Amino acid sequence: MEIIIQPTPEAATTIAARVLARLIREKPAATLGLATGGTMGPLYRELVALKLDWSRLTTFNLDEYVGISPQHPQSYHHFMWENLFRHVNVSITNVNIPDGLAKDVPAACESYERKISSAGGIDLQLLGIGTHGHIGFNEPTSSLASRTRIKTLTPQTLRDNARFFASESEVPHHVITMGIGTILESRHCVLLAFGKKKARAIAEAAEGPITAMHPASALQLHSKVTVVLDEAAASELKMQDYYRWVYEQKPDWQKI
Ligand code: F6R
Repeated sequence: MEIIIQPTPEAATTIAARVLARLIREKPAATLGLATGGTMGPLYRELVALKLDWSRLTTFNLDEYVGISPQHPQSYHHFMWENLFRHVNVSITNVNIPDGLAKDVPAACESYERKISSAGGIDLQLLGIGTHGHIGFNEPTSSLASRTRIKTLTPQTLRDNARFFASESEVPHHVITMGIGTILESRHCVLLAFGKKKARAIAEAAEGPITAMHPASALQLHSKVTVVLDEAAASELKMQDYYRWVYEQKPDWQKI
């Protein structure tokens, strides 16, 4: 796991944008795994400003709330459309987001997995992290081998995400999310986290034991993970000086 610590969320976002932009330029028909949430908005703004060619890219979003329509202002369909897709030349037929209104949820989840496989797997999966360590909406105790499925949100996530809704009672209790097993099959995971409220979750993910109680810790099993943090999110890492030193020592060919 490579951990990159930047002075500010803005500087960290620029690093993540560069990683994505490099992939998009080198592999114009790449398959991207996308995330939503407060952390991702500025990243998508930066990607839009780079005016990259999205015409041959395929995208798969991590998750969607169950029971709200794609037009709902807090649906992840709406988030993606407003923050990214309507600003780039992506082909709408190449955009995939779990269907929160699916009549047959297990069948929709299986079909999502099949589509990811048919697309040749995910080249780069963007990830945020929940304050209790979720990736996607794989809440604590999620199987580390899980696939796309329905999950019930924890009270912690309901509280955390209430800021996007008029009140906590409006946050849907169920979601469809790629599984941890699905995420681990992507070829490169790029996780972003900013702010003190993410510091504990990041320390446990990177330096704690691998456990279903902290789903992001499963990323320790992945061979290519880039974690991009601001100072506050890095503040509880025991090895932070080492990570900074490693980044400063990067040979030119590895520089981002
Ligand atoms: C969203 C997702 C979640 C968020 C996480 C952090 O698609 O999969 O795991 O990345 O909850 O959300 P923010 O960025 O709002 O703190």
